[in-house]
Formats: sequence, structure tokens, C-alpha cells
Amino acid sequence: MKRFRVYRVDQATRDKYADVTVGADDFIYPYFVVEGTGICQEIDSMPGICRFSIDKLVEDVKECYALGINKVLLFGVVEQSQKDERGSLAYSEDALVCRAVKAIKAAVPQVCVITDVCLCEYTSHGHCGLLVNNDVDNDSTLPLLAEMAYVHAKAGADFVAPSAMMDGQIEALDKKLKAEGLRDRCKILAYSAKYASAFYGPFRDAADSAPSFGDRKAYQMDFRTKDQGLQEIEADIEEGADWTMVKPAMPYLDVIARGVAKFPQVPMVAYQVSGEYSMLKAAAQKGWLDEKRVVFESLIAIKRAGAKYIISYYAKEYLQKWA
Ligand code: PBG
Repeated sequence: MKRFRVYRVDQATRDKYADVTVGADDFIYPYFVVEGTGICQEIDSMPGICRFSIDKLVEDVKECYALGINKVLLFGVVEQSQKDERGSLAYSEDALVCRAVKAIKAAVPQVCVITDVCLCEYTSHGHCGLLVNNDVDNDSTLPLLAEMAYVHAKAGADFVAPSAMMDGQIEALDKKLKAEGLRDRCKILAYSAKYASAFYGPFRDAADSAPSFGDRKAYQMDFRTKDQGLQEIEADIEEGADWTMVKPAMPYLDVIARGVAKFPQVPMVAYQVSGEYSMLKAAAQKGWLDEKRVVFESLIAIKRAGAKYIISYYAKEYLQKWA
């Protein structure tokens, strides 16, 4: 008989053998940014998470930095009336996200600013790329994503994170940033294995980015595939990704673990997405789950699978209340 209970006899012993941790350095905190001033508007389906105008965003980033959070991810949210077919506001020189990057860098330069690069929040049809004959067209979308990454990088973003799931998007960004002399300063976080997931539901409320027709299954991955995720990760690394990502996180721990095992040299980011947040939050609010414990367990699981960093809407609350 092998005796395992010796590892568990009391708290001090359990602590001694616990070899997975989660702390402030592990987190990337996502933000939704809107035009205006003084705005901190809570999202119905994500209690505790707000859309911020830039002034309020900067205040919140400062609070997070004081808690030890040193990486943030920005999404721009624009009014429906501001959107057009080509998502022009995504890559204009004074784009909302560019102004947000500059404001954060001016106030808290130590914070690593990552920007989401995708057209879905900016196109009137709510798809992640350009439409040609009512279909999202891969190749004509690439220059627009590259342009979007370029304006973000020029504004001071430390990382650009393309999430449109267009083939060749990493290469397109890499080439553009090199051509503009920004590649050394701006890294690329690739949303490599991004599945067509119903767990993005609350995000689409938050970012007002639901597709106006159809769904994203023609470009985001089918979760019924076993190895495509690894192939996507491999291709992104070959194209020049500095960090890679699996998204969502908890239902895809297998992909995280296999990705880390196969490409140990590339930092793996896991995105605990809006639906993962909302389901824990809702169950906690009903008193059905012990929030502190399930959040801790979820975050540890993601780290145990091998993720180096976790994008989590829980980052701030976790560090404020439970760390
Ligand atoms: C697309 C994007 C989405 C998310 C991050 N980037 C939405 C989608 O692809 O449908 C989802 C994140 C979340 O659910 O928290 N720009």
C-alpha cells in the first residue's frame, strides 16, 4: 500500500506539497472602453464588470496596479451608429483604444497594455472581418487587422492580440509591425485556439458585438475537433506569435495542457471568458456555490493545466478579497 494521506494530514503539510499557485503576476485584466467621461456602467450579465470611459478606466487600472495587476487587455466598444461595413473606427489614428492606451501609459507606464485586434466590435454586421457576398472574407480582412494593430502599437500598446481567427493574421501583423519599425517594441499575443463558444454570450452584451446574422462558426474553431487547436497554435508560432492562447479556459484545459507540452518555449495564455465568469457569479449570487472557493479552484486548474497567464474578469475581485 502506498500512503498518500501523509501529504494531507494538516494545513501546513498540504501547503508544503501544493505546487501550483495563482497570484497577481499571473493575471491579465480585461476592460471594455467606451467614449465619454465619468462612465462606469455595469454590464447586466456580468455583475461587477463595467464599461468604462477613458478617465474612469485609468482610475481603475491604477487600483488594479496597486493590487499587483500589471497586465490589462482592452476592448473598444462603439455606438451602433458609429459602426460601418468596414469597421473604420477600429483602425483610425485616433481610435478609442489608441486614446485609452495613451492614457494608461501616461498614468501607469509600468502596466503592460494588450489590445484586442478584431473587427467584430466595429462592423455594422458584427462579424470579425470584411464581408464579401455575405461571407467573411479572410484575405481582404488581413490588411485591416494589420492596420488596426499598427495604430495600437503606435499609440504605445505593448502587445496586440488578434482575435478574429483569420488565417494568416499573425503573419500579416508581424510583417506590418516590422515594416513600420514597431515589431521590437510591440509583441503579438495570438488567440490561437479560439473555439466557437456559447460561453462568449455575456461578452457580446458587454461589447455589443453579436453578429447581426449567422454565427462565427465559419472562422472560430469547432470544439468537436481534437487536434486542430494544436495545429492552430503551431501555425501561429511559425508566423511569429510571441505568446499563444487557448480560449475559453476551463472547458478546454486539455488543449491548454497539450499545447504547453508540445510548445513549452512559448508562454501560454488562457482566457477565462465572460460566460465562465457569469456562471460562477450567478451561482454564487444565488448562494449555490461558495464563490471564493470555486474561483480559486478554477484559477488553480487553469494554472495546473500549464497556462502561464490567465485573462480573467475575476482578477481584481480575487486579489481584493480572497488572495
Ligand atoms: C472578439 C472577441 C470575443 C471575445 C474576445 N474577443 C467575442 C467573440 O469572438 O465572439 C470573447 C471574450 C469573452 O467572452 O470574455 N473580438
